[in-house]
Formats: sequence, structure tokens, C-alpha cells
Amino acid sequence: MPWDRDTPQPLLEEWARATGLDGTGRRAVVVGCGLGADAAYLARLGFATTGFDISSTAVDQAGARHAGSGADFVVADLLALPEEWRGHFDLVVEVFTVQALPDPPRTEAMAAISTLVAPGGTMLAIAFRDDGSEPPAVGPPFPLDRGTLEAMAGDRLEVVALEELAGPLWRAEYRRA
Ligand SMILES: C[S@@+](CC[C@H](N)C(=O)[O-])C[C@H]1O[C@@H](n2cnc3c(N)ncnc32)[C@H](O)[C@@H]1O
Repeated sequence: MPWDRDTPQPLLEEWARATGLDGTGRRAVVVGCGLGADAAYLARLGFATTGFDISSTAVDQAGARHAGSGADFVVADLLALPEEWRGHFDLVVEVFTVQALPDPPRTEAMAAISTLVAPGGTMLAIAFRDDGSEPPAVGPPFPLDRGTLEAMAGDRLEVVALEELAGPLWRAEYRRA
């Protein structure tokens, strides 16, 4: 699988270093965590971290690969999130999940992700970017345009930064007031 990796996504790691990210006393969640490297990384930064994925195979693999990381890996469906996760996380990280979904259910998934962010919390999204140079993707992945990245803020979050990076990729940071 293209997302079979044991190291944190480089744009997440770069952002964490640049912002001096410290998870002490804070909660993080990784959406569609796949094989768990990003959740394990956030746990090492001190966050009480949950990584969830709809795939029990991915969750089992993540737990086995990152046993001892401190991250908690659970099976959950982004489209049917536990009520107790609403507004529960100081940091929400989404890497390559939204752009893996057609629409529907992408719009519903984006709205669901934004509900996870606690007041004062941050969301970071990393996705392939539609730079207009290619015909529409038959996907997945479905590279995302700027309007989609802006829409990920929904009515709860504000866009802090929307970076167009090589790849082409997006790295987007959002904040809940
Ligand atoms: C392209 S992979 C990216 C995995 C990981 N975020 C990474 O970057 O390595 C997309 C992931 O989203 C998960 N996924 C797809 N639909 C989901 C849903 N409805 N709820 C939770 N996870 C989902 C898949 O099982 C898969 O692990």
C-alpha cells in the first residue's frame, strides 16, 4: 500500500518541529490512522493520542507496530463517530483520508472531522492538491482543490494557513476559537 510507512508524514513532522508542538496534558486524534506512524509520533510528543481507522486490519497492524508508543488504536467509522469524541481533542490530524473518499461521502466526512476539535484546538490536514494540471482524477486519490480545503473548516473552525507545497500537496491548519 502507498501509505505503508513507519515514520511520521514529513509535512506533519516539519510542522510539529516548526511550531514546537508539545502535547503535554493535551489530547490528539489521528483520523484514518492507517498503520499508525502519525499517532505514535504524536504520542511521543506527549499527547494522549487516539488513532482510529475503519479497517480492523489497519488497527491491529498499528497496535503491533507501535506497541509501547502510548498511542491507543481503535476501530471507528468517521461517518459514525462516538458521541463522546465531539469537541474532545486539542489536536486533530487528518492525512490522506478525505482525499481518498469520493463525494459522497467526502463532504459528510469533512464535517464529521471538524466536530472532533475542542474549543481552542487545532486541526491539521494533509492532502494531495489539485493544481489544475491534470484532468479530473478517477481516483482514489482525488486531489483536492482550494475550495474543498477551505470547506473543511465548516462552521466551527477558521483557516489559519493553507500551504501549497510540492507533491503537489496541501498542508492546512485550522483553529477552533
Ligand atoms: C490513504 S489511507 C491513509 C492512511 C494514513 N492516514 C496515512 O497517511 O498513512 C486512508 C485511510 O482511511 C481509512 N478510512 C477510509 N474510510 C474511513 C472511515 N469511514 N472511517 C475511518 N477510516 C477510514 C482507510 O482504512 C485508510 O487506512
